[in-house]
Amino acid sequence: MYNGGKIIAGLIIFAAIITSPFLLNIGKADEAPQPSLDTPAINQMSEKKCVESAEFMRTGHMQMLNDWRDQVVRNGDTVYVSNSGQEYEMSLENSCLKCHSNKQEFCDSCHTYAQVDPYCWDCHTDTKGAGQ
Ligand code: HEC
Ligand code: HEC
Ligand code: HEC
Repeated sequence: MYNGGKIIAGLIIFAAIITSPFLLNIGKADEAPQPSLDTPAINQMSEKKCVESAEFMRTGHMQMLNDWRDQVVRNGDTVYVSNSGQEYEMSLENSCLKCHSNKQEFCDSCHTYAQVDPYCWDCHTDTKGAGQ
């Protein structure tokens, strides 16, 4: 009569059914999914930080990229100095995607989720990174 295996399997399925709507909803309120930081360039960093704070980047990267493009294309200026005084090349491919070479697991995971589809890749290559 007593079948532990079946009961456990049943419990697991039950738990999965109960929690799946919840899991699917995680973050829907306003928080984004967890984009992967597992890239060769980032793994090599002793202090894992972005151009600016992660908080800033989360909401400000679109504006930053716009500014970068304007600076480079209009003013020919290619160096961005961060709040902390660090210098970065203002480049989608040579900066953002050098560290975030896993575009699919990083940029795209958020964008798919947020239902945005930046048209940048019509012209800029997204295939430089090792993760592609
Ligand atoms: C020098 C390597 C490096 C460069 C260049 C870089 N990033 Fe980052 N980025 C990181 C690291 C490391 C983190 C995680 C920082 C943390 O958790 O404090 C991060 C975090 C982020 C986040 C927040 C992710 C989250 O979990 O919410 C966004 C968005 C982001 N980066 C976008 C960009 C964009 C866009 C560019 C180019 C304008 C860029 N990054 C350039 C290394 C980099
Ligand atoms: C933490 C989640 C997250 C990560 C990681 C992320 N983005 Fe975004 N990105 C967003 C959201 C959300 C928007 C839409 C923002 C809006 O509409 O105000 C956006 C918008 C953009 C836009 C503007 C698109 C448009 O049509 O206006 C660009 C460009 C962009 N992201 C580039 C990148 C690049 C390049 C990376 C990877 C290096 C990246 N993003 C990583 C969440 C993210
Ligand atoms: C119609 C083609 C096209 C599209 C679409 C496009 N770009 Fe560009 N972008 C260019 C060209 C051409 C340059 C100049 C390259 C140079 O001067 O080295 C450039 C330069 C840039 C630069 C500075 C240089 C570099 O290597 O990154 C940034 C940053 C940039 N674009 C961001 C974006 C972002 C963000 C998007 C999407 C929201 C986008 N671009 C969409 C063609 C395009």
